[in-house]
Amino acid sequence: YGKLNGGDKINPFAEQKAWEDQQIEKATWNFGSKDKNRSMSADEYEFVFGDLIDFVKASANEFDDDLQAQQTRSFDLQVKSNLEKLQEERKTLPVFSYRDELLRAVEKYQVLVIVGETGSGKTTQIPQYLHEAGYTKHGKIGCTQPRRVAAMSVAARVSQEMGVKLGHEVGYSIRFEDCTSEKTVMKYMTDGMLLREFLGEPDLASYSVLMVDEAHERTLSTDILFGLVKDIARFRPDFKLLISSATLDAKKFSDYFDYCPILYIPGRRHPVDIFYTKEPQADYLDAAIATALQIHVTEPSGDIMIFLTGQEEIEAAAEVLKQKTEGLGTKIGELIICPIFANLPTELQAKVFEPTPSGARKIVLATNIAETSLTIDGIKYVIDPGFCKMKSYNPRTGMESLQVTPISKASARQRAGRSGRTSPGKCFRLYTSYSYQHDFEDNTIPEIQRTNLANVVLTLKCLGIHDLLHFDFIDAPPTEGLIKALELLFALAALNKFGELTKVGRQMAEFPLDPKLSKMIVASGKYKCSDEVISIAAMLSVGNSVFLRPKNKQTYADNARMWFQTGNVGDHIALLNVYNEWKETNYSTEWCAENYIQARSMKRARDIREQLERLLGRVEIELISNPDDLTPIKKAIASGFFPHVASSMKNGRYRTIKYPQTAYIHPSSGLARESPSCVLYHEMVLTTREYMRCVTEIEAKWLLDVAPHYYQVKHVKNSGSKSSLAEEGGPNRTDNFLGSKTFHLPTRRLQT
Ligand code: CDP
Ligand code: MG
Repeated sequence: YGKLNGGDKINPFAEQKAWEDQQIEKATWNFGSKDKNRSMSADEYEFVFGDLIDFVKASANEFDDDLQAQQTRSFDLQVKSNLEKLQEERKTLPVFSYRDELLRAVEKYQVLVIVGETGSGKTTQIPQYLHEAGYTKHGKIGCTQPRRVAAMSVAARVSQEMGVKLGHEVGYSIRFEDCTSEKTVMKYMTDGMLLREFLGEPDLASYSVLMVDEAHERTLSTDILFGLVKDIARFRPDFKLLISSATLDAKKFSDYFDYCPILYIPGRRHPVDIFYTKEPQADYLDAAIATALQIHVTEPSGDIMIFLTGQEEIEAAAEVLKQKTEGLGTKIGELIICPIFANLPTELQAKVFEPTPSGARKIVLATNIAETSLTIDGIKYVIDPGFCKMKSYNPRTGMESLQVTPISKASARQRAGRSGRTSPGKCFRLYTSYSYQHDFEDNTIPEIQRTNLANVVLTLKCLGIHDLLHFDFIDAPPTEGLIKALELLFALAALNKFGELTKVGRQMAEFPLDPKLSKMIVASGKYKCSDEVISIAAMLSVGNSVFLRPKNKQTYADNARMWFQTGNVGDHIALLNVYNEWKETNYSTEWCAENYIQARSMKRARDIREQLERLLGRVEIELISNPDDLTPIKKAIASGFFPHVASSMKNGRYRTIKYPQTAYIHPSSGLARESPSCVLYHEMVLTTREYMRCVTEIEAKWLLDVAPHYYQVKHVKNSGSKSSLAEEGGPNRTDNFLGSKTFHLPTRRLQT
């Protein structure tokens, strides 16, 4: 490849045809069919790359030396043989054949795009190769992951392979959890964490190599990182940059990085038969469970993976599967149910990677985290309902919601591929072939084009990047989205009217949180209740996993939960009550169990709270407690969450104040049956309806106080509470953010 110019492909046989072309997609099928003898098999096919893989063993000796070196450490025999086994396994990965070629390419080129399908060893091996080749002598090797679970589990795996303790030479860093030390030379981290590292080290001086992994996922942080690291590569000749992706559309990355070379690592892929349903499925969860059980009963051994949309769905599916299989007793083989999702506690994550005992079958219930970021060996059957949960954002209204959305063809292909890694597999798509062809988009829209950009804009402003319209985006976000972000930051007082960072903005940027949450914390200084507000922020940051609701004890659980709501204080204060009472019991686990509270979530909240407390000190906000007066606490919350306010219409219906949209209080809220006239909500979720989750009653007139640039008297006049202000509020426009343009915020009269 020495002759190649930039933009060329390093191995020419990389002219890969989309593997899907090679697959057999003839079959449709009927799940739940009583015909056990129904044949699911399809024609054989030769997979493309089998012949092409030339096992280059040249580096094997070098490898053994390294192994020797490692083994001189004082491990006991057990660990030693385990280490040997792992080293053998390393050599069987597809990427191993390209070790030398890769190292030569890294030496020669500064930026390199690497393409190899999931499981080929990119994430775990490439940083190790670079480490073995000496790249850690003058700096760290960083490797970014879009997902925290992937960062943790991959770091754990690599530390095992190297026979070192996690957090020593190999570590990981995710939000609120830093498992690295002075010794760490290989650091796995979420892309969001690296973005934050830029704030302290804008040239990434402590890194010699950076691998931006899972680039095809095109998360918001990854996209922003592209722009930043491209710049670094230009002024730091010693800096090596690897962009790795699991999909074939690498040319886009290469073009963006000044036509850098692309190294393809052909995988060893087995044929996958794809089956479609004959009819669209009314309930994909039911269909998925039925399919899984059918596979379990009728198909030869091999593990099953079901792609679901989120934690709640996964837990529901796990429950149903458990009940159904218990009902069947010993008539069927053992089914080991393994959930995997982002908030899954670390200790349970390992279970999913454990080999399945013979005679049993593992069933992995995963979010799209398992699409490309995690490789779980032994999967032979994939069930793909065709949905994922996606953040969607309406730049007009600034409204963000989580929505269950159909996946793209690219995702469907990735999912199917999970079944053919170690042997021929089968993928059951719970949608029709017609639907796949006609309804599915080719690719998922990059997150930057469908999300709230406020956080990123704040980070970029902190990095001194003011001209956002001309930032070198690989795909630019919609201008409207940028403007909305600037407007929000202005309303939050993070930016002044010239679009410059304010003191408040700088304080907010210290917190690794959404700007609305960080503003709420910064405002708590003014309202003298920072102690309470950081507890609330910590509890909000652990997600929706605080309250337990076991199947057969729902009434008890609901009663326990309502107790924290005494006086209809609202969900935010209820979270505070939970935290404080738990603290009073000296952080007792028993107390959690008695009150249907998830102890693990509480421990995490405590960790997060400690960090927020430290950060408060850093931005010089005093820790003050004012537990007896709820109004200042609610005002502090409103200082950040004023865009999330709705007023009551009738029949439990609400309408958001600024940009009217109908919504309902989520049934899980303590205020669901109260219908207060004006509420603030933490987030909007779209399920069967638009639901506001985590809700607190506020007084509409506060809005004029906390967000004078966002709300005017007319917004709050008719919303149930009397405003003391008679005249119209301040100027309702934001000037000078983007050159000389002036943007008028649309205003609408609120009707009740
Ligand atoms: O990054 P890529 O998808 O190319 O592969 P990888 O994540 O480096 O995985 C390579 C191999 O390491 C897989 O075949 C897994 O068997 C193994 N692995 C593991 O056992 N446990 C992990 N946490 C991660 C990877
Ligand atoms: Mg990977």
